[in-house]
Amino acid sequence: MKRIGILTSGGDCQGLNAAIRGVAKALYVEFGDDVEIYGILDGYRGLIEGDYRLMHQEDFSGILTLGGTILGTSRQPFKLMRVADDKNGDKVEAMKANYKKMKLDCLVILGGNGTHKTAHLLSQEGLNVVTLPKTIDNDLWGTEMTFGFYSALELATQVIDCIHTTATSHGRVFIVEIMGHKVGWLPLYAGVAGGADIILLPEIPYKLDNIVKMLEQRDKKGKRFSILAVAEGAISAEEAQMSKKEFKKARAELTDPAISYKIARELGKEMDREIRVVVPGHFQRGGGPCSYDRAFATRLGTAAARLIADRNYGNMVALRNEEIVPVPLSDVAGKLKTVPLDCSMIRSARNIGISFGD
Ligand code: F6P
Repeated sequence: MKRIGILTSGGDCQGLNAAIRGVAKALYVEFGDDVEIYGILDGYRGLIEGDYRLMHQEDFSGILTLGGTILGTSRQPFKLMRVADDKNGDKVEAMKANYKKMKLDCLVILGGNGTHKTAHLLSQEGLNVVTLPKTIDNDLWGTEMTFGFYSALELATQVIDCIHTTATSHGRVFIVEIMGHKVGWLPLYAGVAGGADIILLPEIPYKLDNIVKMLEQRDKKGKRFSILAVAEGAISAEEAQMSKKEFKKARAELTDPAISYKIARELGKEMDREIRVVVPGHFQRGGGPCSYDRAFATRLGTAAARLIADRNYGNMVALRNEEIVPVPLSDVAGKLKTVPLDCSMIRSARNIGISFGD
């Protein structure tokens, strides 16, 4: 009897249930009645505290199009994993003990960057681990794509599309803040897809003067409105010069609820325009997966089941050159996939006159 544990960890995204279903269905096809799947609840929290339940085939039916995660999720910071607390002691030891208690043959982990650091640690500690790359940010090293990205992209683009009509009516400047944590994949793609005039990314520090110039040029051309797609992690050229500590301090002193409000405030001092800010936030992670993510997550799920059948542990299933391949966790953990400055999407954006504020 194979005993497989499965958990979803970190921020949720669209496609988690499709991926869980893909793993489970492929395992049932491979092993028939000879497999038991345990759903571990709320990510690593469930593994630390021994909160899990035996799942049945019907649990995985009807969830392909469902948003969120049927297993629940939570954020368990990697840096605290080895910090003992009164409730659980050393969390890594607690997870190892529960893995043993459940008599697992493998632990399937669906997660993003932080999750992969812990997954790698568990693998180093001797647990059999297979992971799937999930996040709307698409910032996981080792895979060309993460599931969740395209669904979030659709929603972020829809926001920009809708803002276009009201921005045109009123002749306003709109700043739409797009998620993506410390990388700019989502704002870049949504900005291009939504026809933004200016896109600000964490990878390309902006100068306020350049934004003002671009907005004035558009005014002169008689354009009634302008739209900025701003990454939640956007930074100014001055901030880029700061040490990590100085930057943290400067940001902590800000009273603006999000970076877009700071930019709006600063722009407001430079020009006499009506400026509005829209922060769609977690809306971008909500609802069901788009068709690409349903198919992609299913593909990743079945590839993960294949790795389990082959006892090929310690890997993340990744998209590379149109194929799903195993990538060692040691290659993935702790690395961020940022937007390359010379990538073709940035070049295309510049070619059609989009400004990056640099
Ligand atoms: O990693 C996904 C993400 O949505 C990021 O884009 C964002 O910075 C972060 O999670 C928000 O985290 P939380 O859901 O904990 O507020």
